[in-house]
Amino acid sequence: MSDLQGKILKILQNGGFHSGESLGRQLSVSRTAIWKQLQTLEALGLELESEKGVGYRLPDSFELLNKATILNHIADSHADVSCKLEILQSIDSTNRYARERAEGKTISGAVVLAENQTAGRGRRGKTWVSPFAANLYMSIVWDFDQGAEALQGLSLAVGVGVRRTLVELGLQGIQLKWPNDIYIGGKKLGGILIEMIGDPNGHCTAIIGIGLNVAMPSLAAQEIDQAWTDLQSQSPLPISRNTLTAKLVVTLFDLLKDFQSVGFQAYRDEWEAADLLSNLPGTVSTVKETISGIVLGVDDSGALRLALPNGAVQQFIGGELSLGPSL
Ligand code: BTN
Repeated sequence: MSDLQGKILKILQNGGFHSGESLGRQLSVSRTAIWKQLQTLEALGLELESEKGVGYRLPDSFELLNKATILNHIADSHADVSCKLEILQSIDSTNRYARERAEGKTISGAVVLAENQTAGRGRRGKTWVSPFAANLYMSIVWDFDQGAEALQGLSLAVGVGVRRTLVELGLQGIQLKWPNDIYIGGKKLGGILIEMIGDPNGHCTAIIGIGLNVAMPSLAAQEIDQAWTDLQSQSPLPISRNTLTAKLVVTLFDLLKDFQSVGFQAYRDEWEAADLLSNLPGTVSTVKETISGIVLGVDDSGALRLALPNGAVQQFIGGELSLGPSL
């Protein structure tokens, strides 16, 4: 974000309408210069309200991420968290960026946040819609030393951590869909994407990407190809992205510190209690096959258990699960 964009947002942050002319006057630049900067912010996904002859206004929920605010919230929680926090204004993907930073270096505990992602990564090569200052886009870098096998179920455990945080914030009815989607009211609220680097049999680094819809602008939402929701429309209280970030960091750092020694089995019951598709007909699609059955839950490693029509139970460690039998 440019200096001028930051100054414009600071003025707009009081929630009132401001005309291009008055913004220009206050910042000693032309109305056209103001208009150009607003256009750029809108292109990043910021949804401004504008009224002819009156000016521009930010959405009610608008709040920029602020490092000091987040770190203060973390300190207030008295948790034993030492995190190196970086807030980017706009990046292609926080996972891609965090991964590049972690390559060949030890930065375990680094947290990367962005106001906007221009190429946010979802699972299975999908794009994660990431408009400016609306939602949460976060990547946590965490080192493990027992190889990738000890990390089975990590993404499901992270889902449990995200759910715990949302419950603490007063959200009800948060469910988890295998392997790592966060749902509420049958609609997707967020997702987790973990990428691994390093030695699959020894020291490796997980880039734990979390995307949560907080206040999705309607224009950006048009790009989402599935039923979605956001925290703002589901929460009884206003959601601050800074508070949400701090609470997530505290909960997830606590979980990550223990994960290697306790494994997914320590979170299995909690995961299954929140399972969106438990005991429902489901279809798993993998690169090799598409199989339908009844979703039984997960095993101690986080693999999906599906009861097949012939009575057998099949385990899946990867794939896409959807509700209902295959057509
Ligand atoms: C999914 O498809 O459900 C996973 C979505 C993960 C999105 C997050 S946003 C922060 C991090 N950076 C990315 O590029 N992706 C993840």
